[in-house]
Amino acid sequence: MCGIVGYAGNRPAVPVLIESLKKLEYRGYDSAGITVLEDKLETFKAVGKIVNLEAEIPEKLDGVVGIGHTRWATHGRPSTQNAHPHNSGGPARLSLVHNGIIENYMVLKEELEREGYVFKSETDTEVIVHLLHRELFGGPSCSGECKQEFLPALRQAMGIIKGSYAIAAVYPEEPGKLFVARKDSPLVIGVGCGENFAASDVTAFLGHTKDVIYVNDYETAVLSPDEVRVFGKDGEILDKTVEKVEWDIEAAEKAGYEHFMLKEIHEQVSSINNTLAGKILELEGDIELEGLPLSEEEIRTLSKIQILACGTSWHAGLLGKYLFEQLAGIHADVEVCSEYRYRNPVVEGKTLAIAITQSGETADTLAAIRSLNAYNCRTMAITNVVGSTITRETDGVIYTRAGPEIGVASTKAFTAQLIVLYLLAVKFALIRGKLEQDTAKNFIKGIKKIPGQVQQVLSQKDAIKECAESFSGAKSYFFLGRHLNFPIALEGALKLKEISYIHAEGFAAGELKHGPIALLEEGTPVVAIATKGQTYEKILSNIKEVKARDATVIAVADTDDTEIEKYVDVVLRVPSADELLSPILSCVVLQLLAYYTALALGRSIDKPRNLAKSVTVE
Ligand code: F6R
Repeated sequence: MCGIVGYAGNRPAVPVLIESLKKLEYRGYDSAGITVLEDKLETFKAVGKIVNLEAEIPEKLDGVVGIGHTRWATHGRPSTQNAHPHNSGGPARLSLVHNGIIENYMVLKEELEREGYVFKSETDTEVIVHLLHRELFGGPSCSGECKQEFLPALRQAMGIIKGSYAIAAVYPEEPGKLFVARKDSPLVIGVGCGENFAASDVTAFLGHTKDVIYVNDYETAVLSPDEVRVFGKDGEILDKTVEKVEWDIEAAEKAGYEHFMLKEIHEQVSSINNTLAGKILELEGDIELEGLPLSEEEIRTLSKIQILACGTSWHAGLLGKYLFEQLAGIHADVEVCSEYRYRNPVVEGKTLAIAITQSGETADTLAAIRSLNAYNCRTMAITNVVGSTITRETDGVIYTRAGPEIGVASTKAFTAQLIVLYLLAVKFALIRGKLEQDTAKNFIKGIKKIPGQVQQVLSQKDAIKECAESFSGAKSYFFLGRHLNFPIALEGALKLKEISYIHAEGFAAGELKHGPIALLEEGTPVVAIATKGQTYEKILSNIKEVKARDATVIAVADTDDTEIEKYVDVVLRVPSADELLSPILSCVVLQLLAYYTALALGRSIDKPRNLAKSVTVE
């Protein structure tokens, strides 16, 4: 949550900062602000999106060093006072932006107030500003002499604050420099030519450079136009590797689509191919996966898989559980990380913990994985973001390679996670002798067909749009699925509620009669995933139960299913596929249904209210 950016270069900082902030708006958009270092600090803030901030900034600002922030409110409501950057003194003597949470801020605030520091905001961030002021000037006076350089003062403040932070700061006593620090919140440096960048995420500066340095916990750095110096916890200079990012700027642009979400739904044809690339040996009927933290012998003797994830990634995990159990015969559990991190789980036998996270930065997922350090348990991550924190916290990583996902509602990252889970389950099944090579070959053939079948689903978007529009006035929507379609029903409901704000619930269809059926009213739209498979007849019975209560049924069904029309009001089609694989296709239908519903209602699709893409707070 929240995005920070910084620039130290040779051209006016304002346009660079604004452009970078727009790329990070998905991380929060309650308010935004920038500080530019002219002959003094110039700070501008506005509530709401970056366009509101732009309107506040005067034309003529030539400063070549600056910082910026886009906020997802945690401490203090969205307001100009609470917007970052926060400055100390008057006139301002330093300016700072922060992503994260300072856990001991109340104690520190009281201490600083007793010493005479005056707080202008309700944020936790402001304590860092005053702590730095104290280290630099020895007291709250605005005219005090500077006692030491900025970087040692920053390290001293880091020794006092507890919590998570990525910080960027500018300080007029040391002009031409940008200071950054990190603990438990993402921070990456972009190394340019005569200019350097810092941001919460590479997409912020991808238009300027692909050369990056990942900053680790407790590290600090000083960026000037021609130099980046990174320091360790005790101030020792570090020799950091400059890495190349594979993503390109086009991937982070809308490319003519009205919304990132629509672009990302369409990109699934290519993103699934990218996820698969280099991982399947079609002739041999085998899977090749880099990043597995277990030997074949360890996979054979594995007793349990513990999947950990949040939100949409948790839905992927739920489907993964079914796959590991059905294909590979391994006991698998899946749990939301916000609960798991506070349990005392019983981790017995040989357990592999798999964290699924698009961003690799979700605070609860990181905490859940860290909670396993106390156990003798191997860990791995399925993530989309190279160099993200989770990749440094686990024993192995498989990248989903879906490309940057900007829309807050996850789409292509979800299907990429599913593909990785399919491949993992087949690989484990082969190693454990649960799957014949020929069956694996057929399954792999089926997986290879998916991108083409996703394209077929996309070609029916007009029918899905028409359906979405005709039910966009609904108060409430239900999604039903059985077996592997149950996680897809949950995901369909989540997509709809988060971007259209229509109340929606996903249910295991067999559970309906145990309570939720009481909610059905005449005309309530009920989406039933009724693709062919072992539970087809069962879901037909559930559809009949729903129809008997006068609800309206929208079925997602196979193209060649002519029976279904007799029982439902609307049919949305998916190409016939192996029942283990068809959930991916049904999911694309539900993504489009949510998208077109939100479009009909005029919602803020890429940046829904109250949400942020990357949830780096608890
Ligand atoms: C919903 C959505 C969220 C995320 C969740 C976990 O569309 O995107 O529910 O799935 O916040 O995020 P990651 O996968 O980055 O850990």
